[in-house]
Amino acid sequence: MKIVKTKQEVRDAVSAQRAEGRIIGLVPTMGALHEGHLSLVRAAVEGSDWVVVSIFVNPTQFGEGEDLDRYPRDLEGDAAKCEEIGAHLIFAPNASEMYAGDACTVVRVEGLTEKLCGACRPGHFDGVTTVVNKLLNIVQPDRAWFGRKDYQQLVVIRRMVRDLDMPVEILGGPTVRESDGLALSSRNQYLGDREREVAPKLYEALLQGAGAAREGASGSEVERIVAAKLGEEPLFELQYVQAVEPNSLRPLKSETGPMVIAAAACIGDTRLIDNVVVEE
Ligand code: PAF
Repeated sequence: MKIVKTKQEVRDAVSAQRAEGRIIGLVPTMGALHEGHLSLVRAAVEGSDWVVVSIFVNPTQFGEGEDLDRYPRDLEGDAAKCEEIGAHLIFAPNASEMYAGDACTVVRVEGLTEKLCGACRPGHFDGVTTVVNKLLNIVQPDRAWFGRKDYQQLVVIRRMVRDLDMPVEILGGPTVRESDGLALSSRNQYLGDREREVAPKLYEALLQGAGAAREGASGSEVERIVAAKLGEEPLFELQYVQAVEPNSLRPLKSETGPMVIAAAACIGDTRLIDNVVVEE
């Protein structure tokens, strides 16, 4: 497995593989790889012939005062994990390789990006869609994998790819959890001991909401149940809990039916997100 830092090296390596008829897979990441990422890399190794993992802490998706500077970075450790799984190439550019100093193009998916996390993190999804668009253009994979923990991100990327007729198949991978239910996230490293103890309650609250939804509770009732459960724990500062239609992310409010119950909450300085999908 090779680690390359420039777009040209990626393009050359991918062209050589494509010339041999290989199906190219991409797993875009910001590094600090945990089992959630690694499950995507495994899926890519199984679901394509030649796998690129990109590792780039994308500055344009972080807002002012967010954790760009302290975001965990471990290129060597990440590369070792990818190699063990059977990935073929790591693309780890720096910011100046990715963005020209006078870059002025932004890819925006309207509507879908203004709700849920987008409402709390203005501009975040513009950063995500722009960099994912660039990564897809650089690597030109046949398939790309994203985690369902970032449910809104997955929906937004699928919509971008459909709307812009991008020739790539987007695949979602399941959320991987600790044994106590906490969704794996590179940001879990920030949690202090007491915060870590409390953090799984986010998923517990979502499960309670999902249980109520399965018994016929409406979107609003589900949201109230989840918010009330989280309200019992003073360390949580709830940003949002919403029951939304899985593809449009439209609020369900008085309706029942398939829904995604998504929530974001801060514990101290750490922002956690999670979601549960209720099929019917
Ligand atoms: O999910 C992430 O880690 C990032 O948002 C992504 C998709 C790699 C874009 O920077």
